[in-house]
Amino acid sequence: MEFFEVIKRRRTTNGPFLPDPVSPEHQRLLVEVAAMAPSHFNSQPWRFVLVDSREAIEEVARISGESMTWAMREGIFWKRYRPYFRFSEEEMEEKRDGIFIDQLPRVVRPFKRQIFSETGQTIMNRFGVPKTLGEDNRKLVSGSPLLLAVLLDKTEYRPGELSGFYSIFGMGAAVENIWLATTELGMGIQFVSLPMEIPEKWDEIKHLLKVPEEGLELMAVYRLGYVPEEQKRPTIDWSSRQRKRLSQYVFRNDCRTPEADPAEQRSDP
Ligand SMILES: Cc1cc2nc3c(=O)[nH]c(=O)nc-3n(C[C@H](O)[C@H](O)[C@H](O)COP(=O)(O)O)c2cc1C
Repeated sequence: MEFFEVIKRRRTTNGPFLPDPVSPEHQRLLVEVAAMAPSHFNSQPWRFVLVDSREAIEEVARISGESMTWAMREGIFWKRYRPYFRFSEEEMEEKRDGIFIDQLPRVVRPFKRQIFSETGQTIMNRFGVPKTLGEDNRKLVSGSPLLLAVLLDKTEYRPGELSGFYSIFGMGAAVENIWLATTELGMGIQFVSLPMEIPEKWDEIKHLLKVPEEGLELMAVYRLGYVPEEQKRPTIDWSSRQRKRLSQYVFRNDCRTPEADPAEQRSDP
């Protein structure tokens, strides 16, 4: 694929992957391209755990599913991330950021705007939505042939110091290399992030991966696999293809002068 085409086509995969194992060549390529990323003083503070053991994947899937059910039942997910949810194309077009919830279970569709209220939460719980979502999430993770844990070396990752910031910056670049490479390889990738919302659940994953407390910090877990031609959508799903206009995020010379939008992006005639 042409380089800029890969950048444009890179996406988060919300749906299931094919059951095919990720080939050893592709697994190696992913961690090799990660290491091509820039890092402060070439410190390469990132570490990766490639997880293809069925038992370990099932365990992470269980922890993730339970985290999803708990977070949804308690409403912590909605409360924490409310500002990012959009419920119509018009809203998405106006704000040009966030995620557009365009797929919801039939029973909660009429209440989609009230989902964030106490009433909405009660209705969702009554219809068993948290359990459905938890099970959906468990299946998605369990059906992934490969998980990738991203860690940072604690001698570099010192939160609150510049090296802490630099380490995260370099890790982001390394992960972007992996993300772009998956696009080229016909693969998909998604954060397995729910366990991070609940400290005890995150500890369970650290324990499973035998992360040494004194040496490494577990930063993220991803699920990866090859993407089927036809994508089946999860019970609750979103799209987030929209991007801000240049004038919404670029300035010229100082922060008071927004960059002009190119003619084809202007909303006024
Ligand atoms: C720091 C970070 C955290 C993210 N957390 C999640 C997540 O918890 N679950 C998920 O499915 N995607 C997650 N994403 C992916 C974003 O939702 C996604 O990149 C964004 O909506 C744009 O969509 P796209 O990647 O398909 O272009 C995360 C991305 C970043 C960079």
